[in-house]
Amino acid sequence: MNPNEHRKSEPLNYNTVLITGAAGFIGYHLSKRLLENGCSVTGIDNLNSYYDVGLKKARLEMLTPFENFSFFKIDISDKEVMGKIFKSSHFDVVVNLAAQAGVRYSLVNPQAYIDANIVGFVNILECCRHGDVEHLVFASSSSVYGANTKMPFSVHHNVDHPVSLYAASKKANELMSHTYSHLFGLSSTGLRFFTVYGPWGRPDMALFLFTKAILEKNPIKVFNHGRMQRDFTYIDDIIEGVVRVMGRPPEPDPTWNGDDPDPGTSYAKHKIYNIGNNNPVELMEFIATIEKELGKKAEKEFLDLQPGDVVATYADIDDLKKDFGFSPRTPIETGIKRFVAWFKEYYGYEFSTPSSSGLEKPQNLHHVNCFMCSKSSCGILPIFI
Ligand SMILES: NC(=O)c1ccc[n+]([C@@H]2O[C@H](COP(=O)([O-])OP(=O)(O)OC[C@H]3O[C@@H](n4cnc5c(N)ncnc54)[C@H](O)[C@@H]3O)[C@@H](O)[C@H]2O)c1
Repeated sequence: MNPNEHRKSEPLNYNTVLITGAAGFIGYHLSKRLLENGCSVTGIDNLNSYYDVGLKKARLEMLTPFENFSFFKIDISDKEVMGKIFKSSHFDVVVNLAAQAGVRYSLVNPQAYIDANIVGFVNILECCRHGDVEHLVFASSSSVYGANTKMPFSVHHNVDHPVSLYAASKKANELMSHTYSHLFGLSSTGLRFFTVYGPWGRPDMALFLFTKAILEKNPIKVFNHGRMQRDFTYIDDIIEGVVRVMGRPPEPDPTWNGDDPDPGTSYAKHKIYNIGNNNPVELMEFIATIEKELGKKAEKEFLDLQPGDVVATYADIDDLKKDFGFSPRTPIETGIKRFVAWFKEYYGYEFSTPSSSGLEKPQNLHHVNCFMCSKSSCGILPIFI
């Protein structure tokens, strides 16, 4: 039996869920899992071109057969349109995964992080506040630990020294959501994800880039001369953690003390958790595992640490275990095996030489009527299904 099979029949105590970033890597997997559990899922995504839009559309195509799935191609930084979505429907739980992700790109295009991660996030907060949302769950990141070196990274540590604008934007989300919990009683939980990987993963991330380069006999870039560690977390483990957290809005912590403020808890209905594998892997070991799975050696180009990057991540997940009885359990070998199988199949490496880019798939998504005005091309809310 598929080890995840039993999870699908577990009853969930929420029905209507809004997922932003639904065409993204984590948003796609979360949407699928919730739809399989019988939830009604409304997905939002602006399908931006930060990476291959074809991959985002292909993920959406996997969701459209579900009757309880609706999708709106909109930008969370568009306050007016976001307001309309929340006026037209009530959501029990909102999961905000839409964001400009990636540490390195924040040095190139800082404005994208402000638009999606700051302006967009405030719109989410306002919509949740006025829309009587029972629980807002949002993606934070291990990058908030920034210059910290005390391991494992704990939510109870101070995280006031970010080393990228991406990290600062995620930390800002944690602070802004706390304010809304304090002022308006909005229940919110921030999840610091640690290097998520797996099938349908992001083309800008190491596993994808390494796998593609090795298969195409191109060199891979090994930063900090390989002296790096990451707490790689398999996508199914992340999804299991998110689904459990969604069902239990945080309670105020009666022991919280303003004289000695614990950054990880609050007197307000606000909580932060790490979701990581709790088992960091050396970068060179990670590469060796990919090589073994592909049966090919990588040509390695050793480079210095990139600005904005951190040398190591390692998640303390005691709070997640204590509150939800859950900890990730997928070994890196298993996760890489599943990723490589998906990658080869999706991009056709198994059967033929891929196209020059190697990364294009035909799409046949079709437009349907705008949910606001029922016209097929009103230009306000184009919908893909
Ligand atoms: N994947 C990881 O390892 C990881 C680690 C830490 C945190 N996170 C966070 O988890 C969340 C999901 O990450 P992911 O890996 O699935 O990334 P992703 O880029 O695949 O998904 C994000 C999705 O959001 C959409 N989006 C971006 N800006 C938007 C906007 N303004 N309006 C509407 N949609 C918008 C994108 O088109 C994309 O489909 C992000 O918030 C990310 O910062 C991811």
